[in-house]
Amino acid sequence: MDISRIFENNRQWVSEKLSVNEQYFENLSKGQSPEVLYIGCSDSRVTAEDMMGAQPGDVFVHRNIANMVSNLDLSAMSVLEYAVKFLKVKHVVVCGHYYCGGVKAAMESNDLGVLNPWLRNIRDVFRMHRDELVAIEDEEKKYKRLVELNVQEQCINVLKAAVVQLAVRKRDLSVHGWVFDIRSGKLIDLDIDFDQALEGIREIYRLE
Ligand code: CO
Repeated sequence: MDISRIFENNRQWVSEKLSVNEQYFENLSKGQSPEVLYIGCSDSRVTAEDMMGAQPGDVFVHRNIANMVSNLDLSAMSVLEYAVKFLKVKHVVVCGHYYCGGVKAAMESNDLGVLNPWLRNIRDVFRMHRDELVAIEDEEKKYKRLVELNVQEQCINVLKAAVVQLAVRKRDLSVHGWVFDIRSGKLIDLDIDFDQALEGIREIYRLE
């Protein structure tokens, strides 16, 4: 992308929006009430809003390497708290994607400096699901399955948050695990059974 074109593109975008609705930006400036919090990967090929057909104001977005929801990540936890408690979103989505560089890097034993502690979270996902993953002989299938299991574990991290537990019980908040398939452009709902995924750990994570 030619960086010198960005401002020209922006001018075009503004005039397109205004040609449809003169009040477009005036209305946007009044506030937001998105129904969806989307947590996805920073990957430049995964265009959060584009692939969902979302318009400005529809989706609150948090992106980082490999769509992680680390309990100690103040940024992710703040986004979650703000979206659930104040914006009162109805859905929290964790969306991974096949061919994720972060997940790939975590499957290899390279020293990546400051990325090590970040990727270690994905290595922990591998360890938790080691039996299933090592049984998959095809490397690509294994890699894709780790992407899916990582989404599942990050959804569980979302569900561990007190603010989420409260909103799931007291109102209509739901959590979803999705994967974006770069090769087909399709969004896949993993239909994660959270009752099953949380079985056995509820007694320690459930906050009264
Ligand atoms: Co990625």
